[in-house]
Amino acid sequence: MNQRRDHDYNEEARTYDATRGGDLRAIAAAEALHALLPAGVPVLDIGGGTGIVADFLVKLGHPTTVIDSSPEMIRMCESRGTVPTVLSDATAMPYENGSIDNAIMIWLLHIVDDPAPFITEVARVLKSGGRFITTVDKLMSNNPDHDRARTDAPELISRLCREVGFAEGPRSSFVGHGQRNDPLYQLAVFDRL
Ligand SMILES: C[S@@+](CC[C@H](N)C(=O)[O-])C[C@H]1O[C@@H](n2cnc3c(N)ncnc32)[C@H](O)[C@@H]1O
Repeated sequence: MNQRRDHDYNEEARTYDATRGGDLRAIAAAEALHALLPAGVPVLDIGGGTGIVADFLVKLGHPTTVIDSSPEMIRMCESRGTVPTVLSDATAMPYENGSIDNAIMIWLLHIVDDPAPFITEVARVLKSGGRFITTVDKLMSNNPDHDRARTDAPELISRLCREVGFAEGPRSSFVGHGQRNDPLYQLAVFDRL
């Protein structure tokens, strides 16, 4: 699986939400996404985990499906009973070319070894005109002095997205309420040409 080995999301699934700001963080993320996504149009939440953000997106009127490679995160998501799920690696999703309306990646690209296959795959499955929103520089938001690889650096993600046919729009952000120091997380917004 294309993911760094410092987290086992199967082991973390039960405690994940409570240790990541819980509902307060998820509501802030969902409200920022709500302002950027067309009402009533399906959204694919890639690396959507327990579905805590997706659940609030559904409540805000966006039919949202979570796709994730961790069976335990998917199990937690299914227990909500509000969000359809797909167990799959995000670099090889079970969708036809150009079949997905909109896609989001919240807190995914900072934990992968190489973001390129994730960007290539989301570009493949998105419809022309579809919107892709991803967090960028997640670790910098938590701690500007961190020394980990910036696999979600904004300039890197912008370049990769341009190369596979996205146009970039204005950035947005959300406050990580419920987390230490209420960090401000950046959202990069791309439209499939
Ligand atoms: C930091 S969590 C974020 C979860 C959710 N987006 C949120 O904001 O609460 C990262 C998630 O990405 C999933 N993930 C990691 N690598 C993946 C891959 N290659 N394909 C699909 N999901 C992956 C993990 O299982 C985990 O659920």
